[in-house]
Amino acid sequence: MHNFKYINSELYAEDVPVSKIAKEVGTPLYIYSHSTLLRHFNAYQTAFNGQPHTICYALKANSNPAVLRLLANNGCGADVVSGGELYLAKKAGIPSDKIVYAGVGKKEEEIAEALKARILMFNVESSDEMIAINEVAGRLKTKAPIALRVNPDIDPKTHPYISTGLKESKFGIPIEHALENYKLARELPNLEILGIHKHIGSQITTIQPFIDALKKVILLAKTLKEHGINIKHLDMGGGLGIPYSNEHPPHPKELSKAILPLLKDCNFNLILEPGRSIAGNAGIFVTKVLYQKKHPEKEFVIVDGGMNDLLRPSLYNAFHGLLPIKKNSRKKALSDIVGPICESGDFLAKNREINRLSKDDLIAIMSSGAYGFSMSSNYNSRPRVAEVMVKGKEFFVIREREQYRDLTRGTKIPAFLK
Ligand code: LLP
Repeated sequence: MHNFKYINSELYAEDVPVSKIAKEVGTPLYIYSHSTLLRHFNAYQTAFNGQPHTICYALKANSNPAVLRLLANNGCGADVVSGGELYLAKKAGIPSDKIVYAGVGKKEEEIAEALKARILMFNVESSDEMIAINEVAGRLKTKAPIALRVNPDIDPKTHPYISTGLKESKFGIPIEHALENYKLARELPNLEILGIHKHIGSQITTIQPFIDALKKVILLAKTLKEHGINIKHLDMGGGLGIPYSNEHPPHPKELSKAILPLLKDCNFNLILEPGRSIAGNAGIFVTKVLYQKKHPEKEFVIVDGGMNDLLRPSLYNAFHGLLPIKKNSRKKALSDIVGPICESGDFLAKNREINRLSKDDLIAIMSSGAYGFSMSSNYNSRPRVAEVMVKGKEFFVIREREQYRDLTRGTKIPAFLK
């Protein structure tokens, strides 16, 4: 569900014509809908009502400060994976006691920052990291709240690059080694065991992998209890998918209906870490047609947005819907929509049967609110694009387009070259 729709053949973001925003802000750009973001967050809050829970939005999906402030204002927590994300979460006003911190490579200074911020807990990914956190906490004369991220070896049936809960994945501690690691954690004087964490992957479109993984984790919590280790927070990670084309991923309500019965005899606070299912369909990427090229086999539409702006099609061969900002009744053509980057892998869509586009037409690449801007780069020395939030009839630039001068920010020419 989202708030991008046609009115009289023209695509609107909430109540604003997309063409109006593009005219004022320029292209390429990202546009987010305030009401879609809020509705998606509230869908989680409502679905898990009745169960003590904390929604910790995964910042990696989209960490624009205005998006974070909107979520923070409505009671959302944060799942962070770096010192930078911790900084942004706090700056947005997300309370520290709603912040969890995952990631396989936390640096000592990042651990110290999180301890000083008094976050809810670290989701620890290895025994080495556990030892490092214990040491840093000792130095700071504090106790580090932790959960162990366990790897339940469940296939989430998604793209291999975004499957994280399989045996061969680098994430977490294999579930069969969890007990010994919890025992080790208990021996470390500066750690306080608060929880269990798992996250099996992203863009998961069926409920079963969540159930299978959760059952394993609940069993582990029971075993831990028998060993005198009590779990307060069960963090089930994120991963709920969104419709990019004709997928029908479960609604948070269906997820809660399936999993809450499994938790009814446990006294856990349930933590969820949704990213994509909050931001994904709340955003579009808008790009303008520059040129057309007809090859004997197909047509290429060259647009001003590239893989540096929206990497998902190139990196995962991901499908994103494509809509013209103004509908037209031109003849259909089989086209590749490609960017200006000097890589053959630079495409936004391949082999799409679309009404023929022409110069200066605007198109929307749908479902780009998650892992769109957050994965963008300056490759080919392209300034990163603007981001806009629409609320009703109004729109706000929430990140200005970078300028050429931003490309040299922080760089230095050594004296011997001057
Ligand atoms: N929690 C942890 C520990 C994670 O690693 C992730 C995502 C999430 C939560 C949020 O998952 P979500 O609800 O968004 O599925 N760049 C890829 C997605 C990478 C996801 C990495 N981890 C993409 O564009 O598809």
